[in-house]
Amino acid sequence: MKIGVDNQRCSGHARCYAVSADIFTIDEYGYCNIGAAKGVDIGEEQLAAEGISACPEDALHVVD
Ligand code: F3S
Repeated sequence: MKIGVDNQRCSGHARCYAVSADIFTIDEYGYCNIGAAKGVDIGEEQLAAEGISACPEDALHVVD
């Protein structure tokens, strides 16, 4: 499983980071900086899905 962030949509709410600081890293301004396709470790998929759902800007998604 891979996840990505749309930098045009991310507004720095950091709710993803609150769900998992390991999966959803942020930069010094609070914007998610996971890039376009970050791999998620086995067993972390559910947490990743929760973080994606937590974003109010719909900036996070699963990458095919
Ligand atoms: Fe950005 Fe959404 Fe996370 S706005 S910092 S991707 S909660």
